[in-house]
Amino acid sequence: MKIVIEIKRYNPEKDKKPYFHQYEVEVKPDDRLLDILIQIKSKIDPSLSFRKSCSHGVCGSDAMVINEKERLACKTLIKDVAQIEGAVVRIEPLRTLPVQRDLMVDQAKYFQNYRFVKPYLINAEVVSEKERIQSTQERKAIDSATKCILCASCHSACPVVQKENPKYLGPAAIVQASRFINDSRDKGSEERFSDLDYPDGIWPCKSYYRCTQVCPRNIEATQLINETKKKIIDYRNARGERIKNK
Ligand code: SF4
Ligand code: FES
Repeated sequence: MKIVIEIKRYNPEKDKKPYFHQYEVEVKPDDRLLDILIQIKSKIDPSLSFRKSCSHGVCGSDAMVINEKERLACKTLIKDVAQIEGAVVRIEPLRTLPVQRDLMVDQAKYFQNYRFVKPYLINAEVVSEKERIQSTQERKAIDSATKCILCASCHSACPVVQKENPKYLGPAAIVQASRFINDSRDKGSEERFSDLDYPDGIWPCKSYYRCTQVCPRNIEATQLINETKKKIIDYRNARGERIKNK
């Protein structure tokens, strides 16, 4: 069937402002949106810019807003976004990051927030055996967060980052912090509690649940954020300190 793909275009070298361009394309219901973008770039308009790498939902580089919702283009089938002949599928870049060109965004600030929470194992103890052993239960505690592919869909969909506080650390960075805070092998929780406990850190989250709704890996981001908030509150209470949310 024929559908219309409407893409938000912007080339800072020649466009004064973004605009939408429509492409009429022949598709099959089981085609993926990424296949269609590749088809447009190779056969219709080589100037179209977007990121992709693995094409299998693993690298997170082709997150974009498709029909108003953050999705991975490689995991989105045409039949899920366009059911009838002539349907229009609207594709835009992620919302909370500056556009570099067309569907490509500048991820510098996003990855700065990611690095800020120390997303690596902190443990200076010498290991007696070859590795740091975890029980099945202990591994389960980090299972969800380890699935994060850093696609930034949650950051883009978050109403706090969008409208209330662009300086908010954002759900992806906090999910990563929780991944190590909940890791039985890690000893850096106190450092990370301090990293998250500031007015623009973990506290701006108001549990809108948009991050959870758009996450392509089904990570319960809002729940992880709330559990981490509770851990910080307990940590501060145990030390007779106040949280630094103002
Ligand atoms: S939590 Fe989900 S939506 Fe957010 S960056 Fe990770 S995989 Fe993407
Ligand atoms: S291209 Fe890697 S997740 Fe889609």
